[in-house]
Amino acid sequence: MSKLTADQLKNIAAKFGTPLYVYDANYITAQYAKLTAAFAGSNTTFFYACKALTNINILKHIKAIGCNVDCSSINEAKLALLAGFEAGRVLYTSNSIHFSEIEEAVSLGIHINIDSISNLEKFGKKYGHGYPVGIRLRPNIMAGGNLKISTGHDKSKFGIPVDQLNEVLEVVAENNIHIQNLHIHTGSDIKDVEVFVKGIEVLFDIIPHFKELSSIDLGGGFKVPYKTGDAETDIPLLAQKVKEAFDSHPVAKGLQIWFEPGKFLVSGSGYLLADVNVMKETANTNFVGLNTGFNHLIRPMFYDAYHEIKNISNPAGPEKTYTIVGNICETDTFATDRSLNEIREDDTLVFYNAGAYGFEMSSNFNSRHKPAEVLVKDGEAILIRKRDVFEDLLRGQL
Ligand code: LLP
Repeated sequence: MSKLTADQLKNIAAKFGTPLYVYDANYITAQYAKLTAAFAGSNTTFFYACKALTNINILKHIKAIGCNVDCSSINEAKLALLAGFEAGRVLYTSNSIHFSEIEEAVSLGIHINIDSISNLEKFGKKYGHGYPVGIRLRPNIMAGGNLKISTGHDKSKFGIPVDQLNEVLEVVAENNIHIQNLHIHTGSDIKDVEVFVKGIEVLFDIIPHFKELSSIDLGGGFKVPYKTGDAETDIPLLAQKVKEAFDSHPVAKGLQIWFEPGKFLVSGSGYLLADVNVMKETANTNFVGLNTGFNHLIRPMFYDAYHEIKNISNPAGPEKTYTIVGNICETDTFATDRSLNEIREDDTLVFYNAGAYGFEMSSNFNSRHKPAEVLVKDGEAILIRKRDVFEDLLRGQL
């Protein structure tokens, strides 16, 4: 998939200033098309995990291309409805929530996956058979790029452990709950297709206990390449394995397959543009200090994530070694000893793969402003979120 060019990004930076998040709508469309093409042979539906990037203009684009939406909080669900999604296209998969959020989700008429026996019991007492619901199970599978983003292992807080199935069955029977969906999500950055196959095996053992299922939800977590040569989840292979498994199962073959991709749809669509404030040469390190920091893109510091960086102001400059840092009052190193085209003060750098969990995990730490966001669509760069101004820092304060 092609990327926005350095020239396009330079023009956008000149027009809107930096630090700036830029998203490419065409990229999202193409990623979604890859999924639907690969899974065309099976009854599969995709719910965009909007925790990756919730700007309402992105949600509207996701809706326009025909994808559904998965939400991790009631507010995300409300944003999705505001973006125009019909309730039947909204899925709500949350954890550690107060039961009142589930009540609110019921009042919105959206799909719900319940993540604890305690809430399942409350749900059963209040709604009985009246509102079909899903349950999130913990398959006890270790998977994902690192422990912080691994959610299906046997010490994970997420979902109801499969080893507690008997308790689930008791609660379901006692309250005559209509279980329509079984859900698992084992983590993020999962490149190995076999992880999904293992998850399917776990669920297939459980299917016979639930007679009213209409779908099986395999979560998200498809790995995207963060650097050249990086592996990504083999989507056609995954589609083939999933189809084989479901087609050969007497009950599962009649069920719809759900996935909840976040990163896969939006990671590569996003760019963070930042300017160089300060060059600092020391005995052993050549620091580049930017007008951004972990308040805007925390992935490198939080997960040791690699983000490709380029100097779009001097793309033909000689390569030198730099350590790229932010302007926050803590060590916020984006990249150590990275080889980049010669960098000068006021140059603009771009961080790639900044679409997922970039702006979304940003903060006002150090009382710095959050960046603006721009969407490139139909050849036009449109401002979709204003840069914070000083008053935003005081909003809500008394
Ligand atoms: N479904 C559920 C229930 C999830 O918890 C998540 C992600 C997804 C779907 C989407 O996963 P994806 O396709 O985006 O990998 N902030 C981390 C990733 C955390 C993901 C949390 N849950 C990062 O920047 O790597």
